[in-house]
Amino acid sequence: MNIGFFSAKKYDEEFFNQANKNYGYKVRYFDFSLTEKSVVMASEFEAICVFVNDRINKNVLDTLSKGKTKYIAFRCAGYNNIDLQYAQKKGFRCVRVPAYSPNAVAEHVLALLLTLYRSTHKAYNRVREGNFSLTGLSGEEIFGKTVGIVGTGNIGSIVANIFNGLGCEVIASDPVVNQDLMSKSSIQYVDLEELYQRADIITLHCPLTNDNRHMIDSHSIQMMKRGVTLVNTGRGGLINTQAVYEALKSKHIGYLAIDVYEEEASLFFEDLSTDIIMDDLFMRLTTFPNVLITGHQGFFTKRALKQIAETTLENLKALEKRLKSDNEIF
Ligand code: NAI
Repeated sequence: MNIGFFSAKKYDEEFFNQANKNYGYKVRYFDFSLTEKSVVMASEFEAICVFVNDRINKNVLDTLSKGKTKYIAFRCAGYNNIDLQYAQKKGFRCVRVPAYSPNAVAEHVLALLLTLYRSTHKAYNRVREGNFSLTGLSGEEIFGKTVGIVGTGNIGSIVANIFNGLGCEVIASDPVVNQDLMSKSSIQYVDLEELYQRADIITLHCPLTNDNRHMIDSHSIQMMKRGVTLVNTGRGGLINTQAVYEALKSKHIGYLAIDVYEEEASLFFEDLSTDIIMDDLFMRLTTFPNVLITGHQGFFTKRALKQIAETTLENLKALEKRLKSDNEIF
């Protein structure tokens, strides 16, 4: 099978080439993303491999269907960036990597929170400059806080266990109750409104769908405690960034940590340090002392990259051999 690999980075090539030793597929790596412009490059490939910010809309699918492409392999869990119904109608078979070290994202939530609460990023710089003053570094403790987890699937359930272990009260909202999690840890399911009202820390771990886009908006923020901490490692579109920005200014939101951003496609995964970033809202957010932003790196551990590569190639092998794959999206 020929695979056209979009949005490829050096680390993707490294891990996929290693995993591909067991499969022997022909892979061509493109360092640009899949768009209406670049889709012409895909025509010769039976399979294309895409990531979170590739855009697989109707036009892209129409062009793909004129070439050899039959399979679309997401090397990620979320697949909100494809017009799924249309892809199905056009006969494409799509696979994803539903769980690749969910611990990676769960631990990143903790990293974000501890950095924000204990200012380790500021302390690191101060100490390197011989400044041992503690002024401005007083922080928050996680212990004893009520943590609200939205979505208790692979990642959210690990996050629940982490906060249980840190001595927090853990509440959660999910249309599907995770019985295994319920039986093994101390967690209470509540409706979303109650979660907003009770939680000191709210962390988002549900997929982005048409129904929950901007679930965090001025209306839901009004229900939250004053000084609430909001963490989003799910998808940027879960949050109305403008509303969150206003709530940071009014101090209704006390801390914000995001690894995803609704307009991230034009920013993340690229070195823009010598460019002028035109997204004023994003740049304004970076000036808040109580905001921490990382560029969609929650998944980014060596273990996860290895699993992503192996599962993606195994998914494609299943499609090629016409076997049923649990990782097929439809
Ligand atoms: P999962 O599918 O195992 O769990 C998602 C859970 O959310 C399910 O239990 C589902 O019932 C629940 N859910 C669906 N709609 C909901 C709603 N409206 N309110 C509350 N709960 C809802 O997914 P997993 O692996 O835990 O990943 C969660 C999300 O994390 C992914 O969809 C993806 O967008 C994001 N992600 C981010 C990464 C990063 O690097 N920052 C890496 C991997 C995933």
